[in-house]
Amino acid sequence: MVTAQAPGKLYVAGEYAVVETGYPAIIVALNQFVTVTVERMPTYGSIVSKQYQENSLMWSRNGDEMVFDNRDNPFHYILSAIRLTEQYAREQGKPLGLYRLFVDSDLDSLDGKKYGLGSSAAVTVATVKALNLFYGLGMTSDQLYKLAAIAHLDIQGNGSLGDIAASVYGGWIAYQSFDKDWLAAERRQHSLGELLVMDWPQLSIELLTAPDAMRLLIGWTGSPASTSRLVDKIAIAKAQRRADYQRFLAESRETIQRMIAGFRAGSLAQIQAGVRTNRQLLQRLAEFSGVEIETPLLRQMCDSAEQIGGAAKSSGAGGGDCGIVLIDAQIETDALLQAWRDKAIEPLSFQVHEIRENS
Ligand code: PMV
Ligand code: MG
Repeated sequence: MVTAQAPGKLYVAGEYAVVETGYPAIIVALNQFVTVTVERMPTYGSIVSKQYQENSLMWSRNGDEMVFDNRDNPFHYILSAIRLTEQYAREQGKPLGLYRLFVDSDLDSLDGKKYGLGSSAAVTVATVKALNLFYGLGMTSDQLYKLAAIAHLDIQGNGSLGDIAASVYGGWIAYQSFDKDWLAAERRQHSLGELLVMDWPQLSIELLTAPDAMRLLIGWTGSPASTSRLVDKIAIAKAQRRADYQRFLAESRETIQRMIAGFRAGSLAQIQAGVRTNRQLLQRLAEFSGVEIETPLLRQMCDSAEQIGGAAKSSGAGGGDCGIVLIDAQIETDALLQAWRDKAIEPLSFQVHEIRENS
């Protein structure tokens, strides 16, 4: 029997721009995990999960056709991760086996609410990791990232795959997406094994060190949001508001690069300045795209944190889920957290999760 874990994540800055090839974001992994256990079975296999079940499907109509949207259903990420890892195992000459695959997630709260910490990415990474052990494939972290990214892309079809990187490498990372068109073309020409040892153009993952004085606060709004659908809506605005969109991209890149420099220099003030500018950029993106990113509750959360010197913004696609605050660890936050609770914003006391190679 083998077991593997992968952490959930939150976006700190650079959202939406990071979906484009070569634009940076900062992401942090948290100590909330998806755990996958694989156990050999003699006669039949099974996939068992308390939190993720194929018991309902989302669909829409396209003329007479029924179109299924599997993108928010973690079960499909498990199946995709199995399919890709087994394809790789077969290429490596490993005989495939029968097993019971058991999935357990902290990323879905006890009463079934999702915190928006990226369970689809974590479940994909944990499944690939567990099968990597089960089949003795000896994948490196880079190969694990690449295989999990392909498995995730096959289901979601859009997105930056930054949450996969956070889940594989842990800690604070500066992430820049690879060229998805390049990958699609290369997949028609090469085996998985070949793809996993290639350099992927523009892909960049750098581990960052947070200044000791910096503390991360997380507030959960209690309303879930669909990242894949929000990213679709921004893609429509991209076509209609080209100049505004290009300006957003350029300014986001500049802002995130200054923030990354702030991490390298250990400057909390420089990192906080980046959070504030990025919040304004996302507000402008929301305005010209008509997509609600910072909901009224997220706005209240951010404004109250700013009043005591925190730098705050929505995290990820927004539209609900979580907001984040970066604040000097010396500042007393009890009153702020109580004010959040009074507004039905739940402070999440998760810690940053660091990963050492091969753990
Ligand atoms: O809402 P989240 O935490 O899944 O973050 C989405 C971040 C986006 O940049 C909007 C999309 C992406 O794939 O990077
Ligand atoms: Mg989200």
